[in-house]
Amino acid sequence: FKPGLDGVPAAQSSISNVDGQKGILEYRGIRIEELAKKSTFLETAYLLIWGELPSKEELALFEYEVHQNRRIKYRIRDMMKCFPESGHPMDVLQASAAALGLFYSRRDLNNPVYIRNAVVRLLASIPTMVAAFELMRRGDDPVRPHDDLDYAANFLYMLHEEKPDPVAARIFDVCLILHAEHTMNASTFSARVTASTLTDPYAVVASAVGTLGGPLHGGANEEVIRMLEEIGSTKNVRPYVLDCIQRKAKIMGFGHRVYKVKDPRAKILQNLAEELFAKVGYDKYYDIAQEMERVVEEKLGPKGIYANVDFYSGLVYRKLGISTDFFTPVFAMARVAGWLAHWKEQLVQNRIFRPSQVYNGRHNANYVHITERT
Ligand code: COA
Repeated sequence: FKPGLDGVPAAQSSISNVDGQKGILEYRGIRIEELAKKSTFLETAYLLIWGELPSKEELALFEYEVHQNRRIKYRIRDMMKCFPESGHPMDVLQASAAALGLFYSRRDLNNPVYIRNAVVRLLASIPTMVAAFELMRRGDDPVRPHDDLDYAANFLYMLHEEKPDPVAARIFDVCLILHAEHTMNASTFSARVTASTLTDPYAVVASAVGTLGGPLHGGANEEVIRMLEEIGSTKNVRPYVLDCIQRKAKIMGFGHRVYKVKDPRAKILQNLAEELFAKVGYDKYYDIAQEMERVVEEKLGPKGIYANVDFYSGLVYRKLGISTDFFTPVFAMARVAGWLAHWKEQLVQNRIFRPSQVYNGRHNANYVHITERT
């Protein structure tokens, strides 16, 4: 018996597909490179959730609805103000996503209007809640969404209280596209299990956020930045890598359960990082990262260990002024599109998840009275 359900299909899905040997990722059959070049995050979210690229009118309506729902209720803001400023932003996001359900709970899963409103509200509210907590924990009031700015630019505006550079905003939008969906990973599985009970979508997203928060899943890009800071200089890279290999310690940002070549998202993110540095300034950690990739490829490439999505994303987020402990909430902001697509897909042919187990405990044990226990 091997724990972890490795290789066990948990659902049939037409949302995304990974070919780990060839390094291919497709959303609804469209290659990720194509979407990164030509699409926007909201258009990609529409594609994932409704299965087809929207027409011009459908996209305009969807964008309008999301923009109209970006403000969060003042009682949610007040609730968030009561959270400890030292709390992890992922815990805040999980609690806030669940709280949305208190305000909009009238569950009506057979009603397409309910489904549409829930999708729009979750996509629209999560960036506002993420940015609000970053300001609140510093003692500032949250910034109202900017009506003239699109999804990505508005998030950066709410975070920094100033309109972002358009190149930086576009780069951030592409980061959201790259993180929007990735087949049956732990948080998506968690979303589908929760969805299968026919609970509301806010509970589905809250459970997925809780699952994404763990260091084995969404947290690796934070660790990459900490590792690059610890290494400090390109000359320290080789000894660091050799030491990790010798100790059998995992090098953060490398290796993947599915990809045995360089993650296609890492390639795109590396190009974005270079574009961003050219625009807003060089980052010495990029030199360390490049040297690291060279040494790891030389030493571990033959075992199929290459850079994954988390290796370059942290460098991009850092340059965009996003705090390290907000990297995973930003990941969640993007992945909510994938979770909602899986929620909708799960509802179509729902069957509650009820796996079996391999029992390895005792049988026919006696109940010993408390006074007689040793
Ligand atoms: N650094 C060094 N060695 C690594 C490694 C890494 N990042 N990832 C895998 N390996 C090695 C293991 O030590 C193991 O070696 P062995 O066969 O000599 O014992 C072999 O490769 C297989 O490792 P295993 O842990 O079974 O692979 P996996 O498919 O379960 O691991 C990850 C996938 C992602 C969990 C793993 O690569 C990892 O922990 N990477 C670092 C964290 C990270 O970046 N996570 C984000 C993923 S998107």
